Order: sequence, then structure tokens, then C-alpha cells
Amino acid sequence: MRVLGIETSCDECACAVVEDGRRVLSNVVATQIHFHTPYSGVVPEIASRKHVEWIQAVAKKALERAGMESGDVDAVAVTGRPGLLGSLIVGLTFAKTFAWARGIPLIVVDHMKAHLYASQLVLGDSGPVEPVSYPFLGLLVSGGHTIICRADGFDDITVLGTTIDDAVGEAFDKVAKHYGFGYPGGAVIDRMARDGDPKAFRFPLPSLHKGDHRYDVSYSGLKNAVINQLERFRVKPAGPNEPADIAAAFQKTAVRILLRALFNAAEDSGLSTVVSGGGVAANSLLRKSLAEKPGLRAVFPPPELCGDNGAMIAGIGYRYLERGDRSPLDATASARVAGFKKKYP
Ligand code: KG4
Ligand code: ZN
Repeated sequence: MRVLGIETSCDECACAVVEDGRRVLSNVVATQIHFHTPYSGVVPEIASRKHVEWIQAVAKKALERAGMESGDVDAVAVTGRPGLLGSLIVGLTFAKTFAWARGIPLIVVDHMKAHLYASQLVLGDSGPVEPVSYPFLGLLVSGGHTIICRADGFDDITVLGTTIDDAVGEAFDKVAKHYGFGYPGGAVIDRMARDGDPKAFRFPLPSLHKGDHRYDVSYSGLKNAVINQLERFRVKPAGPNEPADIAAAFQKTAVRILLRALFNAAEDSGLSTVVSGGGVAANSLLRKSLAEKPGLRAVFPPPELCGDNGAMIAGIGYRYLERGDRSPLDATASARVAGFKKKYP
């Protein structure tokens, strides 16, 4: 079964074709970065307008690259939540129209569960020979979410911990924005940090790991501590390498915060396989630190499938279709999903 996956929850206009939930036949991601760079962040209205302009061409390209015509698609999967509402509605409406016009099934899926599914995909020569088996611990790290969960199936996710304020990707983006390092911040800081000394600055770890918060994380304290260095940095940079040092010290602390909560969850749950997903799963320090942790097996999607893409949507969509699920043509989008974020009591 060949499923067309459509993803427009944020600033990537993405379509892909995946066969039987595993093999990626095409994966087209049209990024809007260029249009949001002047604002150092995603402007929701620009995002939805670009999706309206691009979605048909991106879907066409995905079919072309898979060597298919629209009549060859067996079903359509689309992101329905969470994300920017205006952007979600563009993809959802396109998917409904496509499915209705061709008389094929539609399935509306959750973006974060799809990120966790990305590690099951085979892209070219990369991807697991055998599907990763459940249960495992999931680490979902993106621009809007930070979730540590137990996964007992592709759709059977128990949230163990979340951020109580900013998401980890958001912290990367905001630090980069304040320092004028570039946009989007995650990839820029990751690159800059390679030339920096992570010990040049000491940034604080949040102290919330007692009682109910063993698996939660917090990034607003780190973000503010790093940004507070800025005034001093502007007046009297300690040396030419200071931007790289700040990037390296921030990144080291950001990864340490994640791993502390994740290792608590691994210890308490007895689960030793950790599957990551989301844009921040492309981070080189996170990948290296998890891969080197004794006693844990770390699974990451190939870097191209960490950020937003249509392949993860088509892939997880197939699993729902396989068990007989279908979404109605009046299915709607939602900006948030209950339980994916926590409020500090
Ligand atoms: O999953 P994603 O593409 O979109 C959302 O669902 O939010 O994640 C985007 C986030 C952004 O915050 C971006 O800065 C971050 O992923 N990111 C990274 C890296 N590449 C992207 N963060 C750290 N290191 C990276 N290499
Ligand atoms: Zn995402």
C-alpha cells in the first residue's frame, strides 16, 4: 500500500510517499526558512499563505519522485495536530480534497507520534533492518515540545515527562535570536559549538527533579541565564571565540538537562532502548551522548527525517489504515494536544 503523507503543521511544506509504512519512496520538504528569517521566527500568517501557494506543487513532486501518478495513491495521511492552526488547515483541506476526489481513505494523524515513528522508516540505505520493537522510551524534542514517554505501540504512548515551560528547540532558537547567531537557531548553534569550549561558561541546571518531576525538564532558566550574558558580551567580548564558547556551553547544558530526566525514566522504567524524534534529534551532541551511554541502545531517525517531513506522516498513517482506522471528511485540526505540555503546579 502506497500512502501519500502531507505535513504542514509549521514552516515546512512537506509531502512524501511511503510503501507499507516502512520504505520511503519520495520525501519532498519545501522549507519556508527564507521567508521567516527576517523575523528570526515563524510568522504564522506567512506560513499558511506559503502552504496554500506550494502544497499542490510539493505533492506533485513527491508523486513524480516516487514514479507515480495521482491515481496510484492508495490512501492519504495528514497531520491534524498539534501545530499552527492556519497551517494545519491548509494540509488537512488538501488531503481531504485529494482523498475525496480519488475515492481513497483519509487518515488524520498526530505530529508528535509521527516524529516518534520516523525511526521505523527506511530511507535509501539508512534505517533499521528490522522495525524497532516496542516497548521503548521515546524522547520527542522539537521546537514546540519536549516529551519523555513510554511507547508500547505506534499509537500507545504514555507521557512520563514534559517541559514545564519552554521546549528545548525553542531555547536553541531564542538564544540564537538574541545573539544574532542566525536562524533557525538549533542547527546554527550545533555548528558553532564545534569550535567552542563548553567549559568557558557555567550555566545552571534547573532544580525540579524531586518528587513528581523526575522526568520533567525546564528551559526558561537556562535560556535567561544565557541571554543575560549578552550585555556583558556586547560591551566587552572576552575574545574572538566567545560566540562559539557560548554556543558550546549552552548546548552542553541543554543536552544535560534532557539526559538527566531521560536517564531517570530509563532507570525507573527498566527500558533500555531510547528512540528519539523531532528537529532537535538531529543535534550532534545529543546523538553522540546518547550513543555513548553504557547500558542504553539509542535509536535515531536519519537526520533528514528528524525535522518535519511527510514520510513520518505517511508511515504512521499506514499503521492506522492497516488496523482499519479511517478519518471522516469533516475531521478538524487542533493547535494543541492535551498532556503534551505540563504546567508547574
Ligand atoms: O520537529 P521540528 O522540525 O519542528 C517542530 O515540530 O517544532 O523541530 C524544529 C526545532 C527547531 O527549534 C530547531 O532549531 C531545532 O528543531 N533543531 C535543532 C537542530 N536542528 C533543528 N536543535 C538542535 N540541534 C540541531 N542540530
Ligand atoms: Zn515537528
